[in-house]
Amino acid sequence: MDRNFALEFVRVTEAAALASARMMGRGDEKKADAAAVEAMRSMLNSIAFAGTVVIGEGERDEAPMLYIGEKVGTGVGPKLDLALDPLEGTTICARGGWNALSVIAVAEEGKFLHAPDTYMEKIAVGPEARGVIDLTQPWATNLEHIAAAKKCRVDDLTVAILDRERHAAMIAAVRGCGARIALIGDGDVSAAIATCKSDSGIDVLMGSGGAPEGVIAAAALRCLGGDFQGRLLFRNDTERQRATLMGISDYDRIYGIHELASGNVLFCATGVTQGAFLNGVRFFAGGAKTSSVVMRSESGTVRFVEAEHSFDRKPVLYA
Ligand code: FBP
Repeated sequence: MDRNFALEFVRVTEAAALASARMMGRGDEKKADAAAVEAMRSMLNSIAFAGTVVIGEGERDEAPMLYIGEKVGTGVGPKLDLALDPLEGTTICARGGWNALSVIAVAEEGKFLHAPDTYMEKIAVGPEARGVIDLTQPWATNLEHIAAAKKCRVDDLTVAILDRERHAAMIAAVRGCGARIALIGDGDVSAAIATCKSDSGIDVLMGSGGAPEGVIAAAALRCLGGDFQGRLLFRNDTERQRATLMGISDYDRIYGIHELASGNVLFCATGVTQGAFLNGVRFFAGGAKTSSVVMRSESGTVRFVEAEHSFDRKPVLYA
């Protein structure tokens, strides 16, 4: 993939972040998401490539834009697959909380798992603990292995877990072995990325969250040298049937990071609200500042892009 695409796709997440940031704290998740989706789609369609959304806003009958299978881009240029979330953390944005992001991962055709919109059991760690995670093992065993790899004690580890009733047993198990816990309200992509940042205070992400977000997080961690495993969780037969239609036959399979996102992956994210990894959008008279990251698995380069946008010159997208 041409590395010059990096700047093109940063513009895409910037546009989505700028649009949804206008809706920060207004209590309307749907409007915030819709603003991000529309801006992302419009920017994507200005890029010279033949894109297909493989992880998107949902299936065609439930998502008017950026649905799974939608073709985006000008149609001229390389064929690329996209795993995107115009607003990861809709509730965070609506409440003005921390760590809402606009994200997009790009790879050559066929490199992302076509994940249905179900839950996924996940474990994510940074580079030091790459290769030691195993979803077939109990949580406590994983923590022991991660602590050994990081040359620390289990009670030095901090585990990010979505604050959900379904995680009660896991939270008890993690507490039982002495590790610290950061309960998060939403945004497990951001928490997965945090495991790769040595000063983030997060060592591990554990628990179930959206499967599409799992693929996106795996793409980010491919670039950052971290590790990720995921297992799809189905609540009913309808979800199983949806997975079957997407080509999944082994419902219990544990997917490694390279099965979720393989090949050369490009990942871009822009902060919508303030976060541990990226600043949120900051508006000022006539413009706004955005903070983004763009990274590539091939080179491992992680670039932070600080941009100042002038609404006078680009009123269509950002005003
Ligand atoms: P949205 O941006 O779609 O609201 O997702 C936020 C999120 O917290 C994800 O980060 C996470 O994977 C998922 O929701 C968890 O789902 P649930 O809220 O149903 O537990």
